[in-house]
Amino acid sequence: MGFMTAFVAAGALIGAVRAFDVEDMLAAPRRSTANVNPSGEWALFSSTRYNWTSHKASTTWHLMEVASGEISDAPFDSEVSEVVWVGETDTSILYINGTNEEVAGGVTLYTADVTDFNPTLVASLDAPFQGLKAQRAESGDIHFVVTAKAYFNNGSAYNPELASQPLSSGGLYDNVFVRHWDFYIEQERYSIFSGKLSAQQLGYPTGNGTAEGGLSFDGEMKNLLYGMNYTITRPETPVQPFGDSGDYDISPDGQTVAFLTKSPHLPKANYTASYIYLVPHDGSEEPVAINGPNTTAPETAQGASGYPRWSPDGTKLAYGQQDGISYESDRFKLYVANIDGLNSEVNSVAEDWDSTPSALAWGPEGKLYVASELNAMNRLWLIPYDAEASFKPTNFTGEDSYVSDYTVLKDGSVLVSSASGWTSREFYTQKPGEDKKVLFSANKVDAELEGLEQGSTDYFWFTNKDGDDIQTFMFKPTNFSESEKYPIAFVVHGGPQVAQGDNWSTRWNLRLWADQLNAIVTTVQFTGTPSYGQEFTDKIANNWAGTPYEDLQEAFEYMKENISYIDTDNAIAAGASYGAFMMNWINGHDFGRKFKAIVSHDGKLSQRGAYATEELWFIQKDQNGTIWDNPENYALWDPLDHIRNSTTPQFIVHNDLDYRVVVSDGIMLFNILQSRGVPSRFLHFPDEGHWVVNRENSKLWHEYIFNWCRHYLEGEELIEEPVIKQ
Ligand SMILES: *[C@@H]1O[C@H](CO)[C@@H](O)[C@H](O)[C@H]1NC(C)=O
Ligand SMILES: *[C@@H]1O[C@H](CO)[C@@H](O)[C@H](O)[C@H]1NC(C)=O
Ligand SMILES: *[C@@H]1O[C@H](CO)[C@@H](O)[C@H](O)[C@H]1NC(C)=O
Ligand SMILES: *[C@@H]1O[C@H](CO)[C@@H](O)[C@H](O)[C@H]1NC(C)=O
Ligand SMILES: *[C@@H]1O[C@H](CO)[C@@H](O)[C@H](O)[C@H]1NC(C)=O
Ligand SMILES: *[C@@H]1O[C@H](CO)[C@@H](O)[C@H](O)[C@H]1NC(C)=O
Ligand SMILES: *[C@@H]1O[C@H](CO)[C@@H](O)[C@H](O)[C@H]1NC(C)=O
Ligand SMILES: *[C@@H]1O[C@H](CO)[C@@H](O)[C@H](O)[C@H]1NC(C)=O
Ligand SMILES: *[C@@H]1O[C@H](CO)[C@@H](O)[C@H](O)[C@H]1NC(C)=O
Ligand SMILES: *[C@@H]1O[C@H](CO)[C@@H](O)[C@H](O)[C@H]1NC(C)=O
Ligand SMILES: *[C@@H]1O[C@H](CO)[C@@H](O)[C@H](O)[C@H]1NC(C)=O
Ligand SMILES: *[C@@H]1O[C@H](CO)[C@@H](O)[C@H](O)[C@H]1NC(C)=O
Repeated sequence: MGFMTAFVAAGALIGAVRAFDVEDMLAAPRRSTANVNPSGEWALFSSTRYNWTSHKASTTWHLMEVASGEISDAPFDSEVSEVVWVGETDTSILYINGTNEEVAGGVTLYTADVTDFNPTLVASLDAPFQGLKAQRAESGDIHFVVTAKAYFNNGSAYNPELASQPLSSGGLYDNVFVRHWDFYIEQERYSIFSGKLSAQQLGYPTGNGTAEGGLSFDGEMKNLLYGMNYTITRPETPVQPFGDSGDYDISPDGQTVAFLTKSPHLPKANYTASYIYLVPHDGSEEPVAINGPNTTAPETAQGASGYPRWSPDGTKLAYGQQDGISYESDRFKLYVANIDGLNSEVNSVAEDWDSTPSALAWGPEGKLYVASELNAMNRLWLIPYDAEASFKPTNFTGEDSYVSDYTVLKDGSVLVSSASGWTSREFYTQKPGEDKKVLFSANKVDAELEGLEQGSTDYFWFTNKDGDDIQTFMFKPTNFSESEKYPIAFVVHGGPQVAQGDNWSTRWNLRLWADQLNAIVTTVQFTGTPSYGQEFTDKIANNWAGTPYEDLQEAFEYMKENISYIDTDNAIAAGASYGAFMMNWINGHDFGRKFKAIVSHDGKLSQRGAYATEELWFIQKDQNGTIWDNPENYALWDPLDHIRNSTTPQFIVHNDLDYRVVVSDGIMLFNILQSRGVPSRFLHFPDEGHWVVNRENSKLWHEYIFNWCRHYLEGEELIEEPVIKQ
């Protein structure tokens, strides 16, 4: 099928420059990053769109020719959940088929060639395995690893569809970390399982799948973490809830697996530390740590580890690690370990680089291609693996899009998957030092994104009272004109240690906000925001509504004085998480009077309620102490103490499954504002966590919030149905 038919939604009007709307943003294709084959000629990606008539999402797969950027439909459909390029040729694949006709809740593995698609079932797996990685060993065998939850008592893979249901629902705990993010901790933990597809000429007579295609599977899945020693924290990979297959890697010869897990000798509620381990793929030996205590890694490196990656020759492993043992926003430093069997010797790389890398890949000539944010945009940097401490890396990609993922090609160029405020997905190739070549941009293809153009995001800088330079991004609506005056939607980002730049999001899509409110939407990268140097990030400690609050006010004043097209007298403010904490603070203080309305999503009303969250390392670092030894720090910036001064109308969202910031904070805020006669609404989702993810829920979220804002900005009638009455 051709390019246009594959991507253009039926019924959309091409050519009309209309406002970007909620249904379009939510329905538009969400494309995975590009999965590039070994020769660098082909890339696979998936695309999921939503149908507002059938209320269903559907996924399709696509194949891109890298040289031309030409895209065609892949020869398989949504039953395929993951694909790995591995096998005899550069177009051989191994994939997970999410269905299994023999085992309910299981999956199957197939091999095929994308250019001549004739799939062979090679393995039937009895649990919902995911996170496939694989290498072809010299023998022709395929060594693969996948992850699944494992039983506590015997380490075998846990299949919820087959598991026996307990008679009681009670869960008894003896230590903290009872729940996390949006789930309660249960006995089963994620683990890595290894398996081998043996190269065989003859059929292999087992019931585990067929031996056609020359590969057979003996059915053995080895839990590589089971039996690992720990004193406090049980090993778990990927690290929940956000870890994925980036938490482990399989050596090019298929013989050794590197993975990370949280420190087995520290409690996980108050420490972030994690270490990287090596284990033979066949599980014949216990995993051995390469960093952390009693290893060759520097003693200063004690914190969370990330992104272990084997060098192409299998003699080295590169990774990142934080120093701070309980500081999740400390900077990551790079390391390269020389590997010999399960022995390792760790060296640091470009140690003085004041940046916090989030991913790496090996390129030709021992160069590391590293992703790290600078000024709220994720960029790529080149670093020799043996770079000395003082080495100063330079970015070779710019600020026009945010790097999501990348693959180094044989000639040293990269294929990048990125996004920005005006396009949900861009694929491009770029050679360091040369211009990028755009292969694909969603806004040029998706009817839903029509009218979104590069250049609709801008930024300005000012110097704050501390002498720090503060960057503010501005998102402008369709048909923006400098001679007009626009209201302002003053958005405060979450974190606080998370930047919000010119980036695509389906949750806080600021370009959507700009069109829906016909406003300029701003995000100030206030003190504490990462990507502006570690010292700047660290200044947030014990300072939550201190310098950041001043920065926000200064940014607002700066716009009033300097930006003619912004009407600061017609303003609303909004934020989620830390941004909602700041909304609650702002409403109780003078700055709150600058806004006609406020929106807060899942924010803390009281710092003293923070001990109901599970990530104690976070609050204890950010409040610089515990609530029993340093109660004054928790009282210092507590919005609840100023609630009698909150008078600006406030829309509050809070969800039951948010165990990060608990729902009682939102209800408490609503109860107080209602009792005091402050116009307010409370929107609640029983099935959402810290974020609203379900598209139908998200549509409602957007409609009620935009209605609230337009009511106060332009007098639109407030939605009255179906408000739940007393
Ligand atoms: C943009 O301007 C064009 C031309 O005036 C108009 O047809 C279109 O409706 C406008 N779109 C928006 C979203 O204002
Ligand atoms: C959306 O779903 C409806 C109802 O099932 C169907 O008729 C329509 O063709 C679908 N639209 C697209 C673009 O697939
Ligand atoms: C996925 O598996 C099902 C059987 O469980 C099979 O019918 C289907 O053809 C498979 N699809 C692909 C693409 O492998
Ligand atoms: C492991 O233990 C679970 C729970 O007791 C049990 O259901 C499962 O069958 C066991 N697996 C094996 C391979 O013994
Ligand atoms: C694989 O086949 C062997 C031999 O028939 C059998 O013992 C084993 O239980 C099977 N394993 C799976 C996961 O089906
Ligand atoms: C695990 O602990 C046991 C008992 O202390 C010890 O004998 C064994 O050597 C340890 N294994 C590893 C890999 O450290
Ligand atoms: C971390 O948690 C453990 C177990 O609850 C506790 O004993 C220890 O004092 C805590 N350490 C810090 C620094 O909070
Ligand atoms: C490191 O080695 C020291 C000295 O042998 C020992 O006391 C300590 O428990 C070890 N730490 C870990 C985490 O293995
Ligand atoms: C690196 O980042 C700087 C700062 O934003 C930018 O000016 C420069 O163009 C970037 N370099 C490249 C090669 O894109
Ligand atoms: C960019 O968007 C991605 C995906 O939504 C998110 O993980 C990341 O934190 C965002 N970063 C910035 C600086 O906006
Ligand atoms: C945090 O506490 C330590 C002592 O525990 C103190 O030295 C430091 O100055 C404090 N930092 C802030 C920002 O309050
Ligand atoms: C409320 O505002 C008034 C006037 O600015 C101020 O004097 C008072 O301290 C504030 N009260 C609280 C609890 O913040």
